[in-house]
Amino acid sequence: MRRANSLSRVRSAIEKDNKLTDPKSKDQARPAAAQLRRYLINVDSTSANQLFTDCLVVGAGVAGLRAAIEAAESLKVIVVCKGTLKDSNTWKAQGGIASVLDVADTFESHVADTLKTGCGLCDKSIVDLVVRRGPELVSQLLGWGAEFDRKDDHLDITLEGGHSHARIAHAHGDETGRIIAQTLVKQARRNPNIRVLEDFYVIDLLTDNDNKCVGLIGCGGRAGPQIIWAPNTILATGGAGRLYRETTNPEVATGDGIALAYRAGAVLRDLEFVQFHPTTLYIAGASRTLITETLRGEGAILLDNKGRRFMNDYHESGELAPRDVVSRAILSQMQKTKATHVYLDVRHFDKEFFANRFPLINELLNSFDIDIANDLIPVRPSAHYMVGGVKTDASAMTSVNNLYACGEVASTGLHGANRLGSNSLLEGLVFGQIAGRAVSQCTQAGAAQIDRPLIKYQIPHSDRTRLDTEDVRNSLRALMWRNVGITRTDRPLAEAREIIRFWQRYVMDKAFESPEGWECQNMLTVSLLMAQSAQQRRESRGTHFRRDFPDTDDKSFARHIELTR
Ligand code: FUM
Repeated sequence: MRRANSLSRVRSAIEKDNKLTDPKSKDQARPAAAQLRRYLINVDSTSANQLFTDCLVVGAGVAGLRAAIEAAESLKVIVVCKGTLKDSNTWKAQGGIASVLDVADTFESHVADTLKTGCGLCDKSIVDLVVRRGPELVSQLLGWGAEFDRKDDHLDITLEGGHSHARIAHAHGDETGRIIAQTLVKQARRNPNIRVLEDFYVIDLLTDNDNKCVGLIGCGGRAGPQIIWAPNTILATGGAGRLYRETTNPEVATGDGIALAYRAGAVLRDLEFVQFHPTTLYIAGASRTLITETLRGEGAILLDNKGRRFMNDYHESGELAPRDVVSRAILSQMQKTKATHVYLDVRHFDKEFFANRFPLINELLNSFDIDIANDLIPVRPSAHYMVGGVKTDASAMTSVNNLYACGEVASTGLHGANRLGSNSLLEGLVFGQIAGRAVSQCTQAGAAQIDRPLIKYQIPHSDRTRLDTEDVRNSLRALMWRNVGITRTDRPLAEAREIIRFWQRYVMDKAFESPEGWECQNMLTVSLLMAQSAQQRRESRGTHFRRDFPDTDDKSFARHIELTR
């Protein structure tokens, strides 16, 4: 009853707001006027601290670092990241990198698996491009010192769900991401053209009157807002898993890049597609750590709380079915058995093999006194990968001039409606290189100093409520998990939009002075767009499952959903 009352209060407030913003179409769910604001803070391009560079890279995961290394062959590059170099989804990646690395495997097979998983929305030419460049870029990483695991005289490759051939290369067992990231960091550090600014929060991308990105305004340390001018900017900010209560992602993954691009006018695509990873460790007090899918590739099985193996009831590939299928199967089995989680069973594994092949997971389980020879591993699904993002073309260019995007923040056309496991590190390498090369081919070194537009932007003062942004974030993450989660229905999606728009009315009108506030504004922006896309796609496809439209509808929805500000 209390919930219904508070919802109806929210509704009447929103209806009032709609009348102010758009008297014609309440159902269009137009955001409050403040959501349409171009910048989150006041901008005066003549007074802020200023830096200049030839190429700006936002984000330091695999895509950002690979882009920087490429661009720095001829240009001065500044890489900014909001945490440290260790705070990225890349660093946390366990499973590996997918590529055709075995003579018995073929490009055609990797392409076919990617297209099948993408459920009709992949761009075949992009899939071809990424798959075919894979082996060369993996071997370049090896040349730069990446210690991938080997068996005899060749790379030790393994299988993951959705792949019809073993093609997942891994490093130090389940520490593939860390090894790749460290290799790229080392390579970047060797190049004097690259300067890295850690703990630098990007507040907004700057654009001139011709819709051209000319750099950014951000904040590092206590220096106050700082402008970095650059003729070309590459967005590589990673994912948005932190929009959900349950996620494998690090704290930095709050979708900022999507919000930055949106405010700058970029076209966003397919935001309804969020991949939920089936197996995240579920122990009270433990962070929601990924338990890699390669564990199932090596033979781990899923049991429900009655000890029954259930995946064969849901899919002929059992534990190695596509991730979206496994995640929904686990959810359904949890509901059937009234349990909060299921279990991974690795009791049949050789302990020494397990410790060597999965050292990170082994250490984690040991720290919770889970003995894999006797105990089951409690797991459940959580938000893992943002499939949609900022739309790019084959040269990583967005719809905003001089703004490129690569890695998880981008929607390049590789993944379609679902991402094949371990294709993302590959995409980051390939599109990082493409973006860096594209920028170096079109940039005149030193141009930023000469060509600086005047940008002034003033936000009206707001006297509204003081805010606990941490509370807004927690409420948002819970709402997204409940209403825009693994399975979706029209009414909860509409409710999520209404509630987010209500929160936006008093969060988006403020000019905050710290990352917590800007991040909260970005999270609200991206969440609303995701709920909007999810409500718009009235069918089920890939990671997007609508209980009220459980079938794929090729007649109406074999297409992308695009949004712009
Ligand atoms: O299960 C995993 O190791 C995840 C891999 C991926 O997301 O690509």
